[in-house]
Amino acid sequence: MNARPYDVLIVGELNVDIVLTGDVVPEFGQTEKLVDSLTVCAGSSSAIFAAAAAKLGLRVLFTGRVGDDLFGRFLIQSLETVGVETDRIMLDPDVQTGACVVLSRAGGADRAMLTYLGSIAKVDERDVSPDLFYLARHLHVASPFLLKGLRAYMPEMMREAHATGMTVSLDTNWDPEQRWDTAGLFDELDLFLPNENELLAITRLQDAEQALNAMAARVSLLAVKRGERGATVCRGAERIDVPAVAVDVVDSTGAGDSFDAGFLAGWLNGLSLRGCGLLGSACGTLTTRYPGGFRGQPTWDEAAAFVRQRLHEELA
Ligand SMILES: Nc1ncnc2c1ncn2[C@@H]1O[C@H](COP(=O)(O)OP(=O)(O)OP(=O)(O)O)[C@@H](O)[C@H]1O
Ligand SMILES: [Mg+2]
Repeated sequence: MNARPYDVLIVGELNVDIVLTGDVVPEFGQTEKLVDSLTVCAGSSSAIFAAAAAKLGLRVLFTGRVGDDLFGRFLIQSLETVGVETDRIMLDPDVQTGACVVLSRAGGADRAMLTYLGSIAKVDERDVSPDLFYLARHLHVASPFLLKGLRAYMPEMMREAHATGMTVSLDTNWDPEQRWDTAGLFDELDLFLPNENELLAITRLQDAEQALNAMAARVSLLAVKRGERGATVCRGAERIDVPAVAVDVVDSTGAGDSFDAGFLAGWLNGLSLRGCGLLGSACGTLTTRYPGGFRGQPTWDEAAAFVRQRLHEELA
């Protein structure tokens, strides 16, 4: 299996984040307001996950679609800079690259997002050529509720990946339309990585314990992210809680995607479930110290050192 040239294939969504901070509450009636800062950075769960995985040393292949425009080229360049293979990302002249305007206030503690899907909704089955299933050991799927053009094909894509010997992980992220249609997404899944709110919404339960138990019975491996409270990993009746270290949080964008990459890197490298959870937690926490999702993502050695020096203290 290791003979495959890539560790992880991502069929994903790409958008830029335009982050404004300060007094960011808009006033209509032609009112102009000045804000404190502007950051334009690569966004999307898939891109942040891909960057985190590449920085951890995984060989990452990204396929998807952007517009043939400034933002599209910026996204490809951002992924290339961290070592993600982008040859399969199509520049589509008929669509605009997706963008998310993030209004961030109270030092990043509160955010409002306005998303234009653009190219995200145009990713579809044609972006997944059959040879891709033989090029990587693992398929990661993120944001099925945003990838509207790919959603119907996802169950078959996951089945095909399994059939060719790949393992498969999923992070649904939030459903902006709150429909939470997960039909077919758990049938061929090895690892599910929701956060706690998403888990409650998907299971349609109010109690986190009940939701954990219900989902643990549906998927073979579950890692639920709980922000500053760390994460919980479940495999059958086995359950492991891992903590998070308290740090000065600047912006938690992408913490979950970096957690996913850390957990998966541990899993693909044969770490124990506790080891995978701790590595994920370290990767999540380390990115919260910087704005945007791409900054602060650790290498394997940096994440392992953080686990040894900081997380083991929490466990003691
Ligand atoms: N405030 C925090 N302090 C320390 N660690 C944090 C904090 N927030 C997140 N983390 C770490 O990052 C991990 C993932 O974060 P979180 O639970 O916010 O995921 P998420 O909701 O999926 O995030 P995303 O916004 O990327 O979708 C947590 O399990 C934790 O280890
Ligand atoms: Mg998330």
